[in-house]
Amino acid sequence: MDNNIDKIAQKALEKIKNADVTELESLKIEYLGRNGFLTQILKSLSKYSIDDKKSIGSKANRVKNIIEKEIENKKANLKEALFDEKMRKEKTDCSKSFYFPFPKGTFHPVIQTIKNISTILKSLGFLVVQGPEIETEWYNFEALNIPKSHPARDIQDTFYLDGLKNLLRTHTSPGQIRIMEKQKPPIKVIVPGRVYRNEASDAAHSSTFHQIEGLSVDENITFLDLKMVLTEFIDKFFGSNLGVRFRPSYFQFTEPSAEVDMQCIFCKGKGCGVCKNSGWIEILGCGMVHPNVLRSVDYDFEKYTGYAFGIGVERIAMFKYGVNDVRLLYENDLRFLKQSEFNY
Ligand code: DAH
Repeated sequence: MDNNIDKIAQKALEKIKNADVTELESLKIEYLGRNGFLTQILKSLSKYSIDDKKSIGSKANRVKNIIEKEIENKKANLKEALFDEKMRKEKTDCSKSFYFPFPKGTFHPVIQTIKNISTILKSLGFLVVQGPEIETEWYNFEALNIPKSHPARDIQDTFYLDGLKNLLRTHTSPGQIRIMEKQKPPIKVIVPGRVYRNEASDAAHSSTFHQIEGLSVDENITFLDLKMVLTEFIDKFFGSNLGVRFRPSYFQFTEPSAEVDMQCIFCKGKGCGVCKNSGWIEILGCGMVHPNVLRSVDYDFEKYTGYAFGIGVERIAMFKYGVNDVRLLYENDLRFLKQSEFNY
């Protein structure tokens, strides 16, 4: 019997060595299955003497384990070889373009401009916050030191809602009040968003447009801080090292107030149609936060000072991309929107 088991083992190992995956499965049944050679031997042990039972049984079990292991090893080797073969045959053609049935989308130039402006201002320490588009007179006007008699509050310029109770914000400046109400100084935020004015649209005006408000309030904030931040911003955004100047102006919520001009990017300051031959274009409004504004949010205006600025997004986008009619930004003509300069 011992010899018989050896023979069986030898033959099995020989067969396993040369088997493929399916042959391995049948060998498993042939030797280890319910009616397999080794199972048969183990089942027939009752015929033998106690000593023979022991020796034949343990040998048969040993051989069974060896065969089982060899089959598993061979299976693993075959699998690996198959994978290697596949890898050898499969070649990736990197020059082949991947077919995707939909054209890749892009950001709208206004959104792209907001993103670019925000990225620069974030790098200068500003946090981005949002304010509501539906506002009350308090946030949009009163708290910003814009008196009841001011013409901007006229029904002509403001879209009033709910019988004058609410309105569509006419600028992002109410964002200043909302953040100061919520937080104590130091504050350094920008508020990007959509604003509304009740006016006819033409090449330079649209009843819906976008602004980015800036506000920084703390102890010892000066006009110099404002100048540094805005000069750095303009340099980074337009990247053309053009001159920047601060021109005295007037806004109710800032004192002193200024408008910031930069040298015309089209003629580099020489004078052209866009800058009306002045060599300068107006970029944004700014100033030191008016004490009345600080008072309206119960800030100690003896202790704190701050600066604010308001950037017209469309205006900046038009200069940056050389667009001469604001309406082009809203018509959604794909030939216009797909221009490569918007997509980077
Ligand atoms: N809110 C002004 C507007 O809509 C823009 C502006 C000017 C905002 C000066 C400011 C500022 O924060 O300091 O025309």
